[in-house]
Amino acid sequence: MCGIVGYIGKENEISTLFYGLKKLEYRGYDSSGLAFFNGKNFKCVKSVGNMDRLKTKLNLSEKFSCGIGHTRWATNGAVILENTHPVISQSGEWILIHNGIIENAEELKQRYKIETLGNTDSEIVANLLEKKIAGSSLEKIRDVCSELKGSWAFLILNRNEENRIYIAKRKSPIYFCDSESGKLISSDPICFPSKEYFSMYDNNIGFIEKDKIAVYDANLKLISPKKYIFKNKEELGNKGKYEHFMLKEIKETPERINKICEKYTEDYLEKIFKKNILSSVKFIKIIGCGSAYHSGLMGAYYFRKNLRIESEAYLASEYKSSRQVINKDDLFIFVSQSGETADTIECLKMVRRRGAKTIVLTNVLESSMAKLSSVVLPIYAGPEIAVASTKAYSCQVAVFYILTKYFKKLLGEEIDFEKEKDKLLVAAEKISDLNEEEIQNISICCEKVFFLGKGKDYITSLEASLKFKEITYINSQCCPIGELKHGSLAVIDDCSKSLIFLSSKKLGKKVLNGVHEITSRKGKVLVISAFQGLVKTSDKVESYFLNCRGLSSETMPLVFTVFAQYLAYFNCIARNLNPDQPRNLAKSVTVE
Ligand code: M6R
Repeated sequence: MCGIVGYIGKENEISTLFYGLKKLEYRGYDSSGLAFFNGKNFKCVKSVGNMDRLKTKLNLSEKFSCGIGHTRWATNGAVILENTHPVISQSGEWILIHNGIIENAEELKQRYKIETLGNTDSEIVANLLEKKIAGSSLEKIRDVCSELKGSWAFLILNRNEENRIYIAKRKSPIYFCDSESGKLISSDPICFPSKEYFSMYDNNIGFIEKDKIAVYDANLKLISPKKYIFKNKEELGNKGKYEHFMLKEIKETPERINKICEKYTEDYLEKIFKKNILSSVKFIKIIGCGSAYHSGLMGAYYFRKNLRIESEAYLASEYKSSRQVINKDDLFIFVSQSGETADTIECLKMVRRRGAKTIVLTNVLESSMAKLSSVVLPIYAGPEIAVASTKAYSCQVAVFYILTKYFKKLLGEEIDFEKEKDKLLVAAEKISDLNEEEIQNISICCEKVFFLGKGKDYITSLEASLKFKEITYINSQCCPIGELKHGSLAVIDDCSKSLIFLSSKKLGKKVLNGVHEITSRKGKVLVISAFQGLVKTSDKVESYFLNCRGLSSETMPLVFTVFAQYLAYFNCIARNLNPDQPRNLAKSVTVE
């Protein structure tokens, strides 16, 4: 995923474009660049590295009236200046920034004998525009787009038209709005000062001028763009008193769980579902990526336990290619913080084509996924900026928990819905009580880390392991503790540390067998347990007591997860790394 901004309007300082783009740095930060007309000349300034490097190359008070900017997360071509956007065609006529992926770029490069400086698909498109001789700029863009396969949000400048920004969209998000000083374009409406903004439909192209917006379909028929109102505008993130978004967002978890409990009344759910969505459902299938997939695993666990309906979670990136059977009586739940993850969107579209029932569980009600499903469950996490998902994961789990209880009622079981929800509030309190100082002192200094657990603790371990590797860069793996002996024990040695989650006394014995297996291979162990005195400590085995007294077994994973998030955070800080911008990652991945 990449961040895109554009501005055309009254003369303004280039700092406005720079800081607009800076808000999108969470979408990618391995290189960035701006291209603009400053009244006399055209300028293009680019830099590899994060945006602070770009800043050193700019005169922020320089004036401009039309410009575009891009912050990149490299998916196509290495992180080098030649691959940094804006990319410019050979003659310099076309300047282009791109979010998405052109699947047939190589084929077009060969067919049109295109030469490029770097090796991005985007540069091939800029040069393809140059190969088109006939027609207006708009027609050339239309013709080029008709030859492309894949996904794109393009902003394009033509060197000879300094009062116009061209725009094209397919699958990747791009929005624009009218502000007092001029027109703004962005891949995320968080950049906009106004609540009202517009978007284009797939395969639309158009242009934006100081006083005009024109959007066309693929036949160049003029159409009206789609209008949206940004609902969460006031909540838009800043770090406040915290050094990092990640820490701030972890700390927001209890208040967000409270918000979910307040919003998710039975009435509210009835209004969302309108009718009994479970009627004739035989299988609940949950699809997501990364942390969203993990929360889906927890959702499936809740459903199986409470509803006795077959339920499974699937990785979106695998679902389409693993020859899954889709039946009419399947209910699909798509989980995504951003609502923009390409793999998940593709599965959602496929499932909808097959006529199955769908629910989208997301944090962004304006997102592409939310627009694709008639049933949308908001997770009320508020904006999540840090790349590592924290509060959004917990909110997804909380919504799954509430949904389970609601479904249970739909199936005719007598339960006190409000009382069940109260259990979440107790978990929120326990999360607030977590002892940060103690967690900060758990330093994990070793070559490899294993996160282990059984049942729902295995799901927590999966999420803990992802979070840990994502921001500490320590090689971390997750394994169900019972599976160790089927292979993974081979890599346990005195350079490894195994973190074992234990929230169920019933499973204690089996877990302790695992501890034994590890220590006999000289591995070190830290058991994070909801029970005191269950684990015998030694020079190889440490234990940390996580106070879950008064919690239901279903809500305990929330406390364990937040513990793991703090653990990852503090170990990241101890290694002098930036948790908000981990290497090689971006907040949401809009390419398949
Ligand atoms: O926006 P989404 O929830 O669809 O994103 C899915 C994953 O890319 C995301 O959860 C990723 O795994 C996080 N960086 C994990 O911290």
